[in-house]
Amino acid sequence: MVSLDAGKVINVTPRYARLRADPNGSTKSPIIGWQNIELISDRPLETMLNEFKQLKKEYPDRILIGSIMEEYNKAAWHELIERVEESGVDALEINFSCPHGMPERKMGAAVGQDCALLEEVSGWINEKATVPVWSKMTPNITDITQPSRIALKSGSEGIAAINTIMSVMGIDLKTLRPEPCVEGYSTPGGYSARAVHPIALAKVMQIARLIKEEFPEGRSLSAIGGVETGNDAAEFILLGADTVQVCTGVMMHGYGLVKKLCTELQDFMRMHDFTSIEDFRGASLPYFTTHTDLVQRQKEAIKQRKAIRMGLQSDKDWTGDGFVKETESMVSN
Ligand SMILES: Cc1cc2nc3c(=O)[nH]c(=O)nc-3n(C[C@H](O)[C@H](O)[C@H](O)COP(=O)(O)O)c2cc1C
Repeated sequence: MVSLDAGKVINVTPRYARLRADPNGSTKSPIIGWQNIELISDRPLETMLNEFKQLKKEYPDRILIGSIMEEYNKAAWHELIERVEESGVDALEINFSCPHGMPERKMGAAVGQDCALLEEVSGWINEKATVPVWSKMTPNITDITQPSRIALKSGSEGIAAINTIMSVMGIDLKTLRPEPCVEGYSTPGGYSARAVHPIALAKVMQIARLIKEEFPEGRSLSAIGGVETGNDAAEFILLGADTVQVCTGVMMHGYGLVKKLCTELQDFMRMHDFTSIEDFRGASLPYFTTHTDLVQRQKEAIKQRKAIRMGLQSDKDWTGDGFVKETESMVSN
């Protein structure tokens, strides 16, 4: 994640706090939630751009996506896009979603939570960018489809979601100070890891439906949030995601996790005889409906089950050759 002036980015330590499954926080129990108050990278832009170039040189057939963020300034956005594109990236991901630190400079979630601002900044970005753009959305909003729609209408080729969820990890009951604690104080941060996966699934489902209903020519959807297994990735793809990203999982388990994810995803595909991602992408999306519709479907199903259980209403209902099944349907044990 880069911006023009890394000198403005000052991180603190500690900047992470964990939530464990055990209510008493036993260090033996698995980590299910992770809070960070980290800002974007404080490494100089020049260093990052050199590394982008090096990566493309070493892996020319792989996709490299530059994650970028800037202040509310058209010229700055244009300069950043030009410089990052020059380094050879294949696409850009725009951070409209970091919930901590950056909004104080009208960056990140400050833009993703304000549709008018988002429309203006997205316009600047898409008039400049010559590579595809994913707009990365914040879940810290009532209806994530509203800013997603604006970003797509403003020319973004796709949406990435979710960024972290605004959180306070906890209070130290000995010191009475909040975590993560920096010189006795804290600030709300971004929640990630396994605990956010169900929330991410809901947001991704909503965006997938938006794309299906309002952008039938198709847009790209990159799903993020709490992926630690191939099955987690499969769930996102079943909702319609084109790609899946992992952040905290790799921070906790290392790069080796990626191989495990691929193997587990392949196991899932074998189980269903799927030979490509397209065989199951979006396959579960049609099974979401309204609660009213669920009630109606259940009424119908109960009526049918009752009819079967009650067997024949009258002797004129015997079908002839079906008498064995019809007799069975009237046996009570
Ligand atoms: C330590 C840390 C730093 C992050 N920094 C960025 C960032 O610079 N830009 C960004 O768009 N998202 C950032 N994120 C958010 C992640 O990319 C991701 O959207 C979020 O953590 C949910 O996915 P996960 O559960 O796989 O971590 C960061 C997350 C963590 C935990």
